[in-house]
Amino acid sequence: QAKAAITGVHGYVPDYILTNAELEEMVDTNDEWIVSRTGIKERHILKGEGMGSSHMGAEAVKGLLAKTNTTPDEIDLLICATTTPDFVFPCTANLICDMVGIRNIGSFDIQAACSGFVYALTVGSQFIETGKYKKVVIVGADKMSAIVDYTDRKTCVLFGDGAGAVLLEADTEGYGVLDSIIRSDGVGQPYLHQKAGGSRFPPTHETIDKRWHYVYQDGPQVFKFAVKNMADLSAEIMQRNQLSGSDVAWLVPHQANKRIIEATANRMGVGMDKVMLNIQKYGNTTAATIPLCLWDYESQLHKGDNLILAAFGGGFTWATAYVKW
Ligand code: ACO
Repeated sequence: QAKAAITGVHGYVPDYILTNAELEEMVDTNDEWIVSRTGIKERHILKGEGMGSSHMGAEAVKGLLAKTNTTPDEIDLLICATTTPDFVFPCTANLICDMVGIRNIGSFDIQAACSGFVYALTVGSQFIETGKYKKVVIVGADKMSAIVDYTDRKTCVLFGDGAGAVLLEADTEGYGVLDSIIRSDGVGQPYLHQKAGGSRFPPTHETIDKRWHYVYQDGPQVFKFAVKNMADLSAEIMQRNQLSGSDVAWLVPHQANKRIIEATANRMGVGMDKVMLNIQKYGNTTAATIPLCLWDYESQLHKGDNLILAAFGGGFTWATAYVKW
């Protein structure tokens, strides 16, 4: 049976870099706390009026198409994982297609917070495996700066903006997305959410005054769930594919906190020299972290490398994929 091989990857981060030193001027924090607690040194922020996640997603897709010698009319489906859509509707995938010149195909968003990219990869792979489509683009794009409260030191140091995209095509030689698992549990809602702006609490002066349009996170609670669920799910996918830690060429974890990544790698028996890490320069870019890792480490990847993708986010959601590169 055909599998969905990742035949190209590209990323985009905006030019503006927000450093820890600059954050020290904005809230009561310091570089030492941020680096030791999270591993983050700087993050990129999208400046400029009227530009949302779609701008970054479109830039990533344009680069992907150029790099893989693919024309817009060859794409059969585009899925965008995002938690910060430009609009409530239309969806960001529709906007990206328009910006890139992709017309008359199916395109839609997936909202699974930081697990969104692995969710979208799982969904997109099915269309390749069934033979329905030949070329599917999966995008992860988030402008977290749009929903971060830059007076809240507990969250504003964590997030950044960015986008990444991959091209999926059929492979019958044993490469590609060989397995994946997606999970969720609504018990996580109180610990990590953006309360207002949706249908339950539409925007009012009151919701704005209460700062309900910003990310709220109970960090320590989320931390506990993240380590347990990311590690358990990665162990599950490794076990059912008969992989030990030494079979894994790279762990590609969601970049929310360096300490969560270290704890997950440790529980999986994977050394940190085999873990993709770029949180220090981008922070947590939500759905974009995993494709941005693949983009940054592309030159170090070899055909046939076993990759374990692992993500955790609001919902709670968590997800993993076993990819043979
Ligand atoms: N600078 C200085 N001090 C700070 C800062 C800061 N930026 N932020 C918090 N503190 C203080 C707190 O006020 C607290 O002080 P107190 O003890 O006097 O109250 C102290 O530091 C410790 O705070 P904790 O929140 O307990 O710190 P912790 O070690 O848990 O780190 C963090 C916080 C980094 C948020 C961590 O809990 C974490 O990474 N959680 C998980 C994040 C995650 O995985 N999210 C999922 C993906 S995101 C998504 O889906 C959108």
